[in-house]
Amino acid sequence: MEEKESKKVIALMSGTSCDSIDAGLCEVMPDMSVKLIQGINHPYPEHIRAKIFSAFRDDISLKELCQLNFAVGKCFADAANILIGEFGKPDFISSHGQTVYHYPFDEKLDNISLKSTLQIGESSVIAKETGCMVISNFREKDIAYGGQGAPLVCFADEKWFRGKYKNQNSYPDESNNNFINFAIQNIGGISNVTVVSKDCDTFGFDTGCGNIMIDYCVQKFFGQKYDKDGEIAASGKICESWLDCLLQDEYYYIEPPKTTGREYFSPKYIENILKTSPSDPKDIIATLTALTAKTIAQAYDRFIYPSVSIDTAVIGGGGAYNKTLMKYLRQYLPKRIELKTHEDYGISNNFKEVMAFALLGYCTFYGISNNLPCCTGADKRTVLGKITTA
Ligand SMILES: Nc1ncnc2c1ncn2[C@@H]1O[C@H](COP(=O)(O)OP(=O)(O)O)[C@@H](O)[C@H]1O
Ligand SMILES: [Mg+2]
Repeated sequence: MEEKESKKVIALMSGTSCDSIDAGLCEVMPDMSVKLIQGINHPYPEHIRAKIFSAFRDDISLKELCQLNFAVGKCFADAANILIGEFGKPDFISSHGQTVYHYPFDEKLDNISLKSTLQIGESSVIAKETGCMVISNFREKDIAYGGQGAPLVCFADEKWFRGKYKNQNSYPDESNNNFINFAIQNIGGISNVTVVSKDCDTFGFDTGCGNIMIDYCVQKFFGQKYDKDGEIAASGKICESWLDCLLQDEYYYIEPPKTTGREYFSPKYIENILKTSPSDPKDIIATLTALTAKTIAQAYDRFIYPSVSIDTAVIGGGGAYNKTLMKYLRQYLPKRIELKTHEDYGISNNFKEVMAFALLGYCTFYGISNNLPCCTGADKRTVLGKITTA
């Protein structure tokens, strides 16, 4: 087998929030640890972002989608070129792309599976504009092998968090009692968790909404992109009856593996729940913030604690900066669980997913399987990602 070397990788990612293209120059080591050298949040031009949101609303022609794939590729290349201008070319680029549609359902037509996902940001454009080899399109192959194509970050969570033990000054005892059982909780547009424990195979799933509904309503009622530091939520009060009603949604009861996205928590869905909302917009934001925290806590109750008890929840993604959301999460999770952030483990909150995709690309480069069937539901471990040469 080829001797592995450390590689400089620029990873590119834009999540469901579509808040920015996150670009990170990383060094990936043969032991699968990843060091972030420099990360930037590169904004989309406003007209491109608006088009992406049109795509989310299914309000876009095929011609426009075709054009958008190439335009997003150019925006991703621009983000990479900022880092290349400062640090020179990496060994290769690893690009997640921009998800515009995710359909993880086991539905068939004439025995042809309809399960599918679409990330745009044409890799050929990125390769041409940067002069670098590009590894991209990770999710498709997992779906081809029967999985949901998500969550993929669990692979990195397992590498980075498995085998950490409570008292770093002593070695784990034979009963494995010293090992920490982690819930790695990302709160992006959608919230997803990875359970990393010595007691079970790593598993993960989307717990439900992260910031999507909060962002939508903050935009609608307050004309802002997001609820900075959770200040609006902090000024309102939770409407318990509305919260109970929102918690009845069937997604929260589905057994993992499960993933979701904007197709489900869509503007139509949000407008529909707003029909029964409290009248004060501040209370709406407070309640939706509580919903994200409560659905996380309930998902742990239903799907995690029956197989493993959690010692530490490590919070990441933009939601980690929402103080009110963090306060609610502290209230709803059992007291014995310690709440940490990725920074506590030397991993950037802001660029964690970027670092994860640097690692996934590194594995593609060396032909190492980089999906976890326990998380995605795929039939087998396989090497995800396609390679586009410069
Ligand atoms: N300071 C902050 N206060 C409150 N919320 C924040 C803050 N920073 C980011 N966010 C939230 O996090 C979201 C972006 O999170 P991110 O992890 O990038 O999600 P995604 O992976 O879906 O792009 C924003 O849309 C916003 O809702
Ligand atoms: Mg983002």
